[in-house]
Amino acid sequence: MEAELSKLGNNLVTKFHVLMRISQIYDSKNVALNQFINEFLETINTLIKGNGVLSLKIIKDDFFLNDQRLRYSVEGFTSFKYLSTQWKKRLIGEVIFKTQMGEEMLRHFIYAFINLEEGCEENADLLKKKLESHQITSVEVNPLEIVEGEEEEAFTLQKEDHREVGKKIFFETIGTIKEVITNIKGNQHADIRKLKRLAQKAIHLVIEDESILLGMTMIKNYDEYTFNHSVNVSIYSLAMGKRLGFSKKILTELGITALLHDIGKSKIPREILNKPAALSNEEWEMMKKHPLMGVEIVLNLKQLGEINPRMVVGVFDHHLMNDLSGYPRLFLKKGVSLFGRIIQIADSYDAMTTPRIYKKIPYTPEQALAVMLREKTVHFDPLLLKIFIGLVGIYPLGSLVLLNTHEIGIVYKSSHDPKWLDRPIVLLVDRDVQGEATKELIDLTDTDRAGNYKWSIVKTLDPYKYHIDIAKYFL
Ligand SMILES: [Fe+2]
Ligand SMILES: [Fe+2]
Repeated sequence: MEAELSKLGNNLVTKFHVLMRISQIYDSKNVALNQFINEFLETINTLIKGNGVLSLKIIKDDFFLNDQRLRYSVEGFTSFKYLSTQWKKRLIGEVIFKTQMGEEMLRHFIYAFINLEEGCEENADLLKKKLESHQITSVEVNPLEIVEGEEEEAFTLQKEDHREVGKKIFFETIGTIKEVITNIKGNQHADIRKLKRLAQKAIHLVIEDESILLGMTMIKNYDEYTFNHSVNVSIYSLAMGKRLGFSKKILTELGITALLHDIGKSKIPREILNKPAALSNEEWEMMKKHPLMGVEIVLNLKQLGEINPRMVVGVFDHHLMNDLSGYPRLFLKKGVSLFGRIIQIADSYDAMTTPRIYKKIPYTPEQALAVMLREKTVHFDPLLLKIFIGLVGIYPLGSLVLLNTHEIGIVYKSSHDPKWLDRPIVLLVDRDVQGEATKELIDLTDTDRAGNYKWSIVKTLDPYKYHIDIAKYFL
């Protein structure tokens, strides 16, 4: 029941978002609106039918559907963000639909809603009156309840903090790469200009504070592996490129290349990609073609002007390995390109630390680094690997650690000073009385009066044994 309500709730928020956007473009009589009105109607009427009433309410940053908190899906993120911003701007906190809605009613409602003046405290009343003037009495509207200390926040939504910006870029990029892949699968033209814009935004953020996007790579989404993986590889690559002193232009190229590195997989059958067992020889041969197929796709992009040889080669050689023992096999033994070497490290690390259908329990960040260090020089560029370790730390981001105080924490951010690779910022794992995860950060370089460290890491722990969902702490 709850899962069903949550699914419908996500659907409702998405439809609401789309309808608001469309109605800001067209006037209320425009036929372009009909389809969206009908889709939204279908969703709300299903909900009203099943529950007798439909209340959509916003408290702080969360939406509640008939008092059940809605958790957003990856696809839903943009809609949730958009809708909560729009509601908060208009100081609307709750809408209750008490009876089934009709097309005309919905049309009046949505236009009355979007035409509310921002920041006006009487909006809930004004909206109700407007609806009554159209003989609509079955919709109740309540003002936004401002939780103490939040007054300012409601008005300064424009100045979203870095974390919000990070989340937005992250989820939007996942959505966009999904779109690109879907288009390529359907032999349609894919537009990569949007990817470029997102890469540029990500670069701004990485330059200001790389830990935000690096933290997002902990959101390992099992069902959306391909998309999450491309975005994660891009984040790691950009953070490495930043440390290598790349210009913004080169960083943009690197970001796009990393986003597209596995694009060739869109031409490989699903059964092979998601096969829960070892691949047969033929299947493996097919799989090994993805870098080359990627090159073909990239060269056929409509916006070929956005692509240069450096990027094409990066897609081509990301599995070549440092000693050229990987694939594709080369006739001319030339070294692996810089983009290829960077992406290869990011790619291996992300793949190893993500649960997959054939390996449900992945390596912990620490184990993954250990494997990579063992294979270094043969498989990876040792210098770049060193940079990568500097980036994720000795205790990589997302590691679950036991402290000498017997507390458990999650490595949240590596220390800026390389001297403190073993003393990162740690998020203590704890819950408040309501069972919600608390967010207390401690800095392991902190000392007490006598000059002794307040906390030290004793060892890393396996999050699967402790049933801790690391990703939750990074959102
Ligand atoms: Fe690949
Ligand atoms: Fe990959």
